[in-house]
Amino acid sequence: MIKDKIGRRLTDLRISLTDQCNLRCTYCMPKEIFGPNYPFLKRSEWLHFDELDALVEAFLCLGVKKIRLTGGEPLLRPGIVNFVERLKNHHNLEEITLTTNALRLAKEVHALKDAGLSRVTVSLDALDPRILGEMNGRGISPEIVLKAIEAALSVGLKIKVNMVVQKGVNEGEILPMARYFKGLGVPLRFIEYMDVGNHNRWEIAQVFSANEILKKIQTEFEVEPIDLSSSAEVSKRYRYKNHTSEFGLITSVTQPFCGGCTRARITADGKLYTCLFASTGLDLKKILRSEKYDNTTLLSVLSKHWGLRDDRYSELRAVNKSAQEKVEMSYIGG
Ligand code: GTP
Ligand code: 5AD
Ligand code: SF4
Ligand code: SF4
Repeated sequence: MIKDKIGRRLTDLRISLTDQCNLRCTYCMPKEIFGPNYPFLKRSEWLHFDELDALVEAFLCLGVKKIRLTGGEPLLRPGIVNFVERLKNHHNLEEITLTTNALRLAKEVHALKDAGLSRVTVSLDALDPRILGEMNGRGISPEIVLKAIEAALSVGLKIKVNMVVQKGVNEGEILPMARYFKGLGVPLRFIEYMDVGNHNRWEIAQVFSANEILKKIQTEFEVEPIDLSSSAEVSKRYRYKNHTSEFGLITSVTQPFCGGCTRARITADGKLYTCLFASTGLDLKKILRSEKYDNTTLLSVLSKHWGLRDDRYSELRAVNKSAQEKVEMSYIGG
């Protein structure tokens, strides 16, 4: 373990398994841009599972304890269940988690649970079919997602729900969502709308802040913060008084948390990104496929790269009006 030698802590590795998605959320993959001619990765460009395995091994030596599989939509990647099983059997990981839109989740819950998946995070932005259908760009209504959540709970998978809140779009859904998931005992995390990628036409005026979200929740519920002083979680957690349910606020815009950022991200074609808003990534595929490749070289490249990082995009957002292209959320995985 050489983690003490690297500057910032590294605990989470997020692996995107494909940049494709069966939704077109307006805040992530607006359909005007991500249409049939969008240059998605070809399957031949994806890292093989063997290669991902080698990367995971190296990242474990740098201190990683949790793996999150993301996309695009990770359940569109053939072989994902076997990969989860492989991660579980080959590596000493604390957690293997999955972030999904849940359209394909229901029929996979048994297999994923048996393979060793620890938890699932489901994205759902509204219960109102019209609002949700507009936000997901495909007119998909909430039933399919809610059924998948039930199916996952019924096999014993732990669930969290992510809701992106956009002012003027779905802030009216905060209370209905809070009520529903409080009742189900599933933590709901409200995410401030972020300026990810280059195409969602983000403006600060469209951010419904975590403080506003909290105030809205307090119009109906008494809540208290959960002490997180010892945790590296991105979400500020609260519990409903006299109840076991909790919710969280992800405040990346109004209260950035770059100082505690412990996440590395790998795209489906093997680029390593040290920030959600970076412009370029380190080409790990090239290293893995070079003639001179060996584990020691890989480890030393990764450790040096992470040690040198000084990303703090969210902290600099207000002052840094750089016109540099950012990586797309669907490619890097969120
Ligand atoms: P768990 O604690 O394991 O549940 O993971 P998590 O909180 O990282 O969950 P998840 O991956 O679902 O993160 C929720 C969302 O928060 C992400 O999808 C992003 O939108 C946002 N987020 C997570 N990590 C970062 C980060 O490092 N920087 C920024 N700006 N946003 C992040
Ligand atoms: N702002 C905030 N969150 C976003 N996500 C995708 N795009 C954005 C954005 N622009 C969220 C998704 C998903 C997670 C991976 O990232 O809703 O839950
Ligand atoms: Fe797909 Fe998730 Fe992006 Fe929505 S937020 S388009 S579900 S990758
Ligand atoms: Fe980490 Fe970049 Fe997010 Fe800051 S903006 S928390 S550095 S991913």
